[in-house]
Amino acid sequence: MLVHLNGVLVTRAEARIDPFDRGFVFGDGVYEGLRAFRGQVRAIDRHVNRLRESLQSARIDFDPSLLGRLCEDLLRANKLDNAFLYWQFTRGTPGVGQPVRGRVPEGPMVPTIFGYALERPSLEKCSEPGTTTAALVEDFRWHRGRVKAISLLGNVMAAMEAREQGAEDAIFVRDGLVGEATATNVFVVLPGDRGESQIITPSLDRVSILAGVTRGLLLEHCGEIVERPVHAEELPNATEILLCGTNTMIASVLRLDGRPVGRGEIGPVARRLAHQLVEIVGAELETPAAAVSR
Ligand SMILES: Cc1ncc(COP(=O)(O)O)c(C=O)c1O
Repeated sequence: MLVHLNGVLVTRAEARIDPFDRGFVFGDGVYEGLRAFRGQVRAIDRHVNRLRESLQSARIDFDPSLLGRLCEDLLRANKLDNAFLYWQFTRGTPGVGQPVRGRVPEGPMVPTIFGYALERPSLEKCSEPGTTTAALVEDFRWHRGRVKAISLLGNVMAAMEAREQGAEDAIFVRDGLVGEATATNVFVVLPGDRGESQIITPSLDRVSILAGVTRGLLLEHCGEIVERPVHAEELPNATEILLCGTNTMIASVLRLDGRPVGRGEIGPVARRLAHQLVEIVGAELETPAAAVSR
């Protein structure tokens, strides 16, 4: 595997980072996770825009428009067509004379840029939703969930708590409102007033969650999805609960807190959204201008 470190492609064994890097010492950095199919990066513009927001919030000096080119080079170097790509941008390492414990960096710092790519299934294989189980966990994380911060300790602790309860993932709840899972956004299928199903995803205004790129694609292309606050007490009525993300694509939550969700199997909405997502991404890949091509 070749990884990218500060402008150079090296083997994992050759990649070395200073232990005083503020990413390591403070978790002082932001990241992006992208997906490539058939050698092209999906939804690159959305990832660039989100990275720009994260970098600006953290005041890290890096030009996000370089992301597409970085991905291209990493895919080519690793001979990968279908992959998950991870990019991390830390504030960097204090230089000689710069304090190593100063919360505010004194003077300019060169960001550390690290990226790797992992092989993932082809787009066609994503038509079938994955499955998982989840536990509700109190959201004890910070209140800036839109920033894609590398400090994922809260997510790690919640996932471990869920695991201890016998579930594979955690769904965060704060003040009675459903947020997101530890690496995905949440969609809930609820029966409507007239017996029809409604697909609902938590709106970003009331909960501190990430504006997921996959969530955004589904909202833009599937007009039927409603954004509104979702109360945890509504979840027992859900016929389906779905998780979506760049790495996961679509997964059905079969059990929540040990109880089956709906029939406890992949439901019709999960199948439909998984197909639609594959179509959305497939259509983008057919439009070379919209994607970064190898
Ligand atoms: C906490 C959290 N929520 C949601 C998502 C889904 O976002 P995306 O669809 O951009 O991968 C992620 C992805 O890493 C995440 O970490």
